[in-house]
Amino acid sequence: MPQRKIFDSGFRDELTQLLTWRRDVRQFRTDPLPPGTTERLVQAASLAPSVGLSQPWRFVFVEDARRRTTVRNVFETCNAAALAGYSGEKAERYARLKLAGLDAAPCQFAVFCDRSVLQGHGLGRSTMPETLDYSVVLAVHTLWLAARAEGLGLGWLSILDPATVVAALDVPKTWHFIGYFCLGYPAAEDDTPALERAGWEQRCDPARVIVRR
Ligand SMILES: Cc1cc2nc3c(=O)[nH]c(=O)nc-3n(C[C@H](O)[C@H](O)[C@H](O)COP(=O)(O)O)c2cc1C
Repeated sequence: MPQRKIFDSGFRDELTQLLTWRRDVRQFRTDPLPPGTTERLVQAASLAPSVGLSQPWRFVFVEDARRRTTVRNVFETCNAAALAGYSGEKAERYARLKLAGLDAAPCQFAVFCDRSVLQGHGLGRSTMPETLDYSVVLAVHTLWLAARAEGLGLGWLSILDPATVVAALDVPKTWHFIGYFCLGYPAAEDDTPALERAGWEQRCDPARVIVRR
């Protein structure tokens, strides 16, 4: 008998709620994560699709205070540079945004793609090698949703100089930096992106992104 798993409408409604209430979080409570959380979330992330079943994602939990300070300093420098790129009212708005949760999140981690991974035997990536990186981003999103389902928030921090972060984390040369993340209990929950609430940007009508040929 072929296996079958049916998700009912109640589950679909819940899933829509999960997608609606997932947020990029920058304001965290300092409460620690329950024991086993990181292992559980990496387990969930590992269910993500990956090219050739290569599972190239690598998670580096950053616990060392000196390494954390390096990342924090890099963020401050890059954020100041980004602010300098705006002028007038946009600069004032940018300065008011909180764009990282490094000050309070109990957990910080970097995610890498092991571009030398042998798992998957190269299937599917000779024509599009970038699919290895895409696979890692899918794992991030899977973890993001799994975290939210546990009441946790995740924040993606890209206002960083990747080379400095990579050097601070001392990882194999074949690992390509994908992103840096803060994880913890959100200070508040919302169904609307922080940037939308701050008047920076609005979500567009999904109908606008569909093209038919
Ligand atoms: C690749 C990527 C990089 C991001 N980098 C940052 C960042 O550096 N700082 C920040 O505050 N938010 C960052 N975000 C969060 C986005 O601003 C956020 O996802 C978007 O505004 C929609 O909000 P939502 O995730 O709460 O729906 C990033 C998101 C992605 C997907």
